[in-house]
Amino acid sequence: MKQDPETRRGSFLSIKTAVVLSIFLIAAGASAFRNDNVPPEEVKISMIDRDSIESVKAFETVYKTLMSPRCMNCHPAGDVPLLGDDSHLHTMGPKRGVDGKGVYAMKCSNCHQETNTPGLHTPPGNPDWHLPPAAMKMVFEGKSAHELAEQLVDKKKNGNKDIKKLIEHADDGLVLAGWNPGEGRTLPPVTHAEFKKAWITWLKTGAYAPKK
Ligand code: HEC
Ligand code: HEC
Repeated sequence: MKQDPETRRGSFLSIKTAVVLSIFLIAAGASAFRNDNVPPEEVKISMIDRDSIESVKAFETVYKTLMSPRCMNCHPAGDVPLLGDDSHLHTMGPKRGVDGKGVYAMKCSNCHQETNTPGLHTPPGNPDWHLPPAAMKMVFEGKSAHELAEQLVDKKKNGNKDIKKLIEHADDGLVLAGWNPGEGRTLPPVTHAEFKKAWITWLKTGAYAPKK
C-alpha cells in the first residue's frame, strides 16, 4: 500500500474508532454463537506501526485459515462452490450466477436455510449464504500467500474495502459461519479469536505480502 503519512494517520484514527466500537459491541452483545471472541483487553490497539516481519508472520495464520476448506469452499477459482474437507466440486453443480446466489431453480437459499440443517451431509445454513458475485470473485483457491495478500487489500478486487472495512469483515456473518459449520465438518485451523487477532495484526502492521 502506498500512502503518505498524513493519509495513514487519518486511517489509523478510524481504525482505532472501529476497534473501540467493535469491542463495545462484543461486550454488549456477546452471544452463544460468538463464544470465541477475544476479551477486549487482548484486542486493544495501541499504535499502528509498519512492521514487515510481524506483518508477514501474522499473515501465516491468516493464510492457513483462508485456505482451509470452511473458507475456501466459498472462494473457488471456478463458478461452482466446493464441498467437504477435500474441497471437491459441489454435487448437483449449483453455479455462482451474477450475484453469487445461484441461477434459476438452483438458488443457494433453496437448500441452504437460515440455520444449519441437523444431521450429516446436510446444507450448512446462514440467512446470507452465497458466493462472492461474478464481478468480484474473491478467489482464494490456488493462490499463493503472496498473491492472496496482495489481492485482499486491492480495492479493485476486494469490493472497495479500506482497512477499516477489512477489519470489520473479521466479524462478517459468513466468516463466523466457518466456525459453526454444521455436524461432521472440521473447524478452521485456529479459533475465530486467533484468526481475528492475526487479521488485525497483519492489517495494522502494513499488510505486507510474503515473498512467495
Ligand atoms: C457461504 C460462503 C462463504 C463462506 C463460508 C466464507 N465466505 Fe468469505 N466471502 C463470501 C462472500 C459472498 C464475500 C463477499 C461479500 C462481501 O464483500 O461482504 C466474501 C468475502 C470475504 C473476504 C473479503 C475478501 C477480500 O478480497 O478482501 C474475506 C477476507 C473473507 N471472505 C474471508 C472468509 C473467511 C476467513 C472465511 C472462513 C472462516 C470465509 N470467508 C468463509 C462468502 C463466504
Ligand atoms: C439442491 C440443493 C443445494 C443447492 C441449490 C446449493 N447447495 Fe450447497 N450444499 C448442499 C448440501 C446438501 C450440502 C452438504 C453436502 C455434504 O456435506 O456432503 C452443501 C454444501 C455446501 C458447501 C460446503 C460447505 C463446507 O463447509 O464444506 C458450500 C460451500 C455450499 N454448499 C455452497 C453453495 C452455494 C454458494 C450455493 C449457491 C450458488 C449452493 N451451495 C447451492 C445443497 C445445495
